[in-house]
Amino acid sequence: MCGIIGYTGRENGIPKIVRGLSVLEYRGYDSAGIAARTESGTEIIKCRGRIGTLCERLAETPISSQTAIGHTRWATHGVPSDVNAHPHRAGRVTLVHNGIIENYSELCEELSGRGWRAVSETDTEVAAALIAEEYERTDSPLISIRNACSRMVGSYAFAIIFEDVQGVIFAVRRGSPLLIGRSTDGSYLASDMTALLPFTRQYYPLAEGEIACLSADEIEINNGAISHSPTWQVSALTAESAQKGGYSHFMLKEIFEQPEALRKVLSPRLRTPLPDFSGDSIEPDFWRGITSFQIVACGSATHAGMVGAHFIERYARIPVTVHTASEYRYSPPLAAEGTAVLLISQSGETADTLAALRYARSQGLPTLAIVNAVETSIAREADRRIYTYAGPEIAVATTKGYATQVAALALIAIAAGLARGALSASAGETLSNSLLHSAPDAITEMLTRRGEIASFAQRLKSHAHVFFIGRGLDYSLALEAALKLKEISYIHAEAYAAGELKHGTISLIEQGTPVAAITTLPALSAKTESNIREVASRGADVIRISADESENAIRVANGSEFAAFFSAMTACQLLAFETALARGCDIDKPRNLAKSVTVE
Ligand code: AGP
Ligand code: GLU
Repeated sequence: MCGIIGYTGRENGIPKIVRGLSVLEYRGYDSAGIAARTESGTEIIKCRGRIGTLCERLAETPISSQTAIGHTRWATHGVPSDVNAHPHRAGRVTLVHNGIIENYSELCEELSGRGWRAVSETDTEVAAALIAEEYERTDSPLISIRNACSRMVGSYAFAIIFEDVQGVIFAVRRGSPLLIGRSTDGSYLASDMTALLPFTRQYYPLAEGEIACLSADEIEINNGAISHSPTWQVSALTAESAQKGGYSHFMLKEIFEQPEALRKVLSPRLRTPLPDFSGDSIEPDFWRGITSFQIVACGSATHAGMVGAHFIERYARIPVTVHTASEYRYSPPLAAEGTAVLLISQSGETADTLAALRYARSQGLPTLAIVNAVETSIAREADRRIYTYAGPEIAVATTKGYATQVAALALIAIAAGLARGALSASAGETLSNSLLHSAPDAITEMLTRRGEIASFAQRLKSHAHVFFIGRGLDYSLALEAALKLKEISYIHAEAYAAGELKHGTISLIEQGTPVAAITTLPALSAKTESNIREVASRGADVIRISADESENAIRVANGSEFAAFFSAMTACQLLAFETALARGCDIDKPRNLAKSVTVE
């Protein structure tokens, strides 16, 4: 996702745009730009880099304007560069965009067939060209926007300036957020409340399909049939809290963003009932050519890889081994013919994972990376990459980054299973449906139970040691649950294969030791139940995270394996968050940690 800000009114808009972009920078920061109406027309100043770099450019060529739009980018299509930065112009149209135009390549081909030539690599420029072409035909901003948007598949929030419509900004959205604001000095628009608060608390959330027409003294909302004035709301947010979208912490905001984040990684690859990675330049043949996977990552990404390994072996019948990146090249596993290396990294810059990628390539092994941050080293250097489009993750402890990695791995498992004939089309469709719909819904349902989970956190907050146990997939989740608790609450937490405790570690269990038992898999819950009784009989305070009916438990979804997993994952994330909150820890920036570990 990226940040959009716009202003038209009686004052110089440039300082407002810069301030809004600085506040929106957390939404994406690989490049930025401004388009401003001046006597010589619409001037565009844009560049790769942070807002600070844009300010340097503005200082070189000072401009003043009463109508301007700005953008800070989180690239999805096209490397971060001066030319791919927004705003983009085509004909008499200049715009900025938040979202993904999924059918941009078809539209680009169509427009090129009529003589248009792209300057950038972005989907956004294609959108500008489509609106511009319609504008040449209709000479109506409203009709051209509506006609062009009806051709687009995907998500967008656009702020648009038409060359010959002085002092007016148009805005339209589908899937991506856009707020309209009003103050005594003029009209505003922004991706979220964050950027409006320095200027106004009066806002109107633009609805999908509405087109807003902003001028200095008036704002009209057109819904395709009639035009009306906005129904203004007043935000309760303060400027500081708005950075986090009203949440107390970035981590909580990112936990709550997970349902949308899962849809963003899945829906572009599930526009038909079956997975399609052609948009990532990965055809079914790629999966057919693989005899085994080596998954390589660090920290939570490794835990995601372990969950993914379960799905890939189960649905694609491809053997998978999972390796810690910092070990991989020092004790490299043997790679049989047909082995592919799958690297997982939210930041795309983790030094250990990058080094492992380079080692795999030096051995001539095909590499595929699952990355969130676009155009980063790991994404660039891998032979193939799949972006998770989760948007910037600010909290050091990953949540939506991990969740979207697991979702991408599950989709890979289904795609590979179908390509290799290990899954029937109907089984693939059922699994894909469950992943796209029941998984986000299960997260949403667990998010409504934060209060219940906070009560369980009270039972952990004063302990120095906590154990998480589980079997199979639940053990892989237990590892992530333990890491989440450790890194933000500073409680020593360990994950154990439930059946392993009795081989030594159970000696650590004493009266009151908290043990969180994860049992989402019906086939394994009876066995884990025995392990629960083993620790309970030695005084453990057991918290079940279970798909089964049981008291003293956090009940998770049991509609499907995906629903149960993501439901239990959310419960574990909230349990860690609430425990750290109860302990007064610095949850977004835990001691000793960094968001991207770019050293070995
Ligand atoms: C996760 O909460 C941790 N912050 C850490 O383990 C992280 O997952 C690891 O450093 C890998 O980071 P990456 O996904 O950006 O490569
Ligand atoms: N898809 C557009 C691009 O890659 C916008 C990305 C965003 O929302 O930041 O430029």
